[in-house]
Amino acid sequence: MKLAPSILSADFANLERDIRLVEDGGADYIHVDVMDGHFVPNITFGADTVAAIRSVTKLPLDCHLMVEYPENHIENFAKAGADIITVHVESTPHIHRVIQLIKKQGVKAGIAVNPGTPIESLIHVLDLVDLVLVMTVNPGYGGQSFIPETLKKIERANELKNKKGYSYEIEVDGGIAEGTAKQCKEAGASVFVAGSYIYTADEPLNRMALLKDAVR
Ligand code: DX5
Ligand code: ZN
Repeated sequence: MKLAPSILSADFANLERDIRLVEDGGADYIHVDVMDGHFVPNITFGADTVAAIRSVTKLPLDCHLMVEYPENHIENFAKAGADIITVHVESTPHIHRVIQLIKKQGVKAGIAVNPGTPIESLIHVLDLVDLVLVMTVNPGYGGQSFIPETLKKIERANELKNKKGYSYEIEVDGGIAEGTAKQCKEAGASVFVAGSYIYTADEPLNRMALLKDAVR
């Protein structure tokens, strides 16, 4: 089980400090939410920010691209030091090509699905990816409520993984707290992204410990 704190809810003026904080709490990945103002309404970080983050941590950078035409940005994010690049199946007509591009850069490839998109839409790329990200909220903002209907999709991703012998990790993202993390774990998830639950707490390390306990 892996914990991937999302720096979307960190203090951007103190990003290094907030990354150290979750390192101390035993983070496995740093989850970096890249938003372009088109695929999702919000705008966040670009590849230069990823390069800056790369210079202050050795933890794997789990870059979640919520951008249209991700094919135009893969090389930049890989060069910036991303370890995992996850793209949305809804974001391009050329999802297979994008995954090839990611792998060509020597980076782990992830594929994400919005709550309204079936796991079946991933069927022809599942054998290629290292990670399947089942969105448990509609992407765009931190601090939203977990959508329980997505649990069935985690189960489906896990079922296909076991049936076909695939090796991808199943990541969940959005509204993850103790209770929802436990439900996702039971459905088959193994990587847990949490933003506001950790960063808006008075005691973030305590929250990380609670999350780890919940998915143990
Ligand atoms: C949502 C992002 C998430 C976000 C999760 O679009 O992909 O990674 O940071 O935030 P919480 O954990 O607050 O729901
Ligand atoms: Zn994310």
